[in-house]
Amino acid sequence: MPIILWKIIFIYFITTIGVSRCFCDIIIPEENPKIPSIAKYFCTKGRYEEVNPYLIEDILAVNRSILQPPSKQCREIHLTAIIRHGTRFPTAKNVKKMQKLYDLVMTSASAKHSWLHEIQTQWTMWYTEDMDGRLVQKGVDDLKHLAIRLSKLFPSMISEKKLRGGFIKFITSSKHRCVNSTLSFKAGLTELWDIKDVEFDHAVNDALMRFFDLCTKFLVEVDNNSTALTEVDKFKQGPEMKRVQQKIADRLGVPYNLISDDMAEAAFYMCAYEFAIKTVNSPWCQLFDVVDAQVMEYSIDLKQFWKRSYGYDINSKSSCILFHDLFSRLDKAVSENMSGQQVTEAVTVQVGHAETLLPLLTLLGFFKDSSTLTSTNYASQTQRSFRTSSMLPYAANLVLVLYDCGGGDLRLQPLLNEKPMTFLDQQDSIPRYQDVREHYKDLLNGCDFESECQLFNKPR
Ligand SMILES: *[C@@H]1O[C@H](CO)[C@@H](O)[C@H](O)[C@H]1NC(C)=O
Ligand SMILES: *[C@@H]1O[C@H](CO)[C@@H](O)[C@H](O)[C@H]1NC(C)=O
Ligand SMILES: *[C@@H]1O[C@H](CO)[C@@H](O)[C@H](O)[C@H]1NC(C)=O
Ligand SMILES: *[C@@H]1O[C@H](CO)[C@@H](O)[C@H](O)[C@H]1NC(C)=O
Ligand SMILES: *[C@@H]1O[C@H](CO)[C@@H](O)[C@H](O)[C@H]1NC(C)=O
Repeated sequence: MPIILWKIIFIYFITTIGVSRCFCDIIIPEENPKIPSIAKYFCTKGRYEEVNPYLIEDILAVNRSILQPPSKQCREIHLTAIIRHGTRFPTAKNVKKMQKLYDLVMTSASAKHSWLHEIQTQWTMWYTEDMDGRLVQKGVDDLKHLAIRLSKLFPSMISEKKLRGGFIKFITSSKHRCVNSTLSFKAGLTELWDIKDVEFDHAVNDALMRFFDLCTKFLVEVDNNSTALTEVDKFKQGPEMKRVQQKIADRLGVPYNLISDDMAEAAFYMCAYEFAIKTVNSPWCQLFDVVDAQVMEYSIDLKQFWKRSYGYDINSKSSCILFHDLFSRLDKAVSENMSGQQVTEAVTVQVGHAETLLPLLTLLGFFKDSSTLTSTNYASQTQRSFRTSSMLPYAANLVLVLYDCGGGDLRLQPLLNEKPMTFLDQQDSIPRYQDVREHYKDLLNGCDFESECQLFNKPR
């Protein structure tokens, strides 16, 4: 055989291998069978790793190049981290709903699918009401790992020296899941530096971390008001949700009227909890496709929008107390630094709830879309920025970093879930601190918790 023919065969062979290798590279990362295809839509029941997928490979990975202070001279002088607790069990209320769904599936589901057979014969209802929203082991790990990553991202601030020196302050909501998250964050650091000789305090402060329980106007006008969430109720009765309920009923082989919107939500959370808590792609996830999950996500986002965010002004105003607390820490750090003293509170770690973070993010103007989320504009909101799945997974965190860049040039950088954000209207992702204060001047001069939260507001 002429040598040229061998060459052609050889080249053909190499090319074929090359092509098939290339296909493998493209296909494999998309189809991780351990991750439900709907995992990106779990809203506040979502896993932190879905927001930062590089963490699936390496849970301690950080990317310092996301921090781009304007010059090499910039030094961090203060850092506040406001963190949501880690992965938790469902609350008693949700366990009840999940139990009802489970009973229905056991007694009435007649469809023939292997995943349904698996639920009926192998899966056991292991959630109990006494779990009551407690932090799970995954939640302990969420906070330990976050602590280690933040110490790698800000080695001069979250350091052994600063911790031992008492320059890192911990504040938490009184809820057990938050206290345990705070303990886990501290354990992440003490285990990292092998500190065994000292323990570090934390303060419990519900006025700051659970302000929503103390804001009368919010409680009366929104939280305990049956008509405040009409948009949510209407969406749940609307065509998109009805279709999801019918598809669930078809997949189970039960009459349509047995799958209420509550049932659909319980099924969605069943898949979400199994994944968040145990990292399994449970058979319950087969009740939804991606289209259904997007509808469920919208329904939950809609509720958060009206109950905790832009829907009503008082939702964000209830966080005035946390807003002022944040800026007074920043101001204090600035004035200590300016007067040549060491900054006494270099780092503040505050642990709370999704309900703590969302009103504050709203007050600061983040994730504000041009139009309101309503029961009728699902289709036009597919590109919305208001997505609790990416804003508020377990262990969600807002970090504000104050830099001194020399010559009185102070900068403030906001990060959400370890990703840089920009303050409204600011081109520069790391604006001057004085410009940020100017931007929020109305809130800094007002936004008084007491007067905002009293039921009958004095005319302004
Ligand atoms: C780190 O972040 C920078 C800037 O956002 C980005 O360009 C780069 O690809 C990231 N590196 C890794 C390894 O993710
Ligand atoms: C939380 O912390 C307390 C005290 O350390 C402990 O008794 C409890 O089991 C912890 N775990 C959970 C999941 O709440
Ligand atoms: C409840 O909410 C509705 C809709 O926003 C509002 O019109 C009504 O005044 C609220 N009720 C109370 C008691 O504040
Ligand atoms: C909530 O509203 C109901 C009536 O709508 C009222 O009876 C109840 O006292 C209210 N609870 C609180 C805590 O305001
Ligand atoms: C302010 O902090 C920076 C960064 O740590 C430091 O270089 C500077 O000396 C401090 N300023 C004063 C007046 O201490």
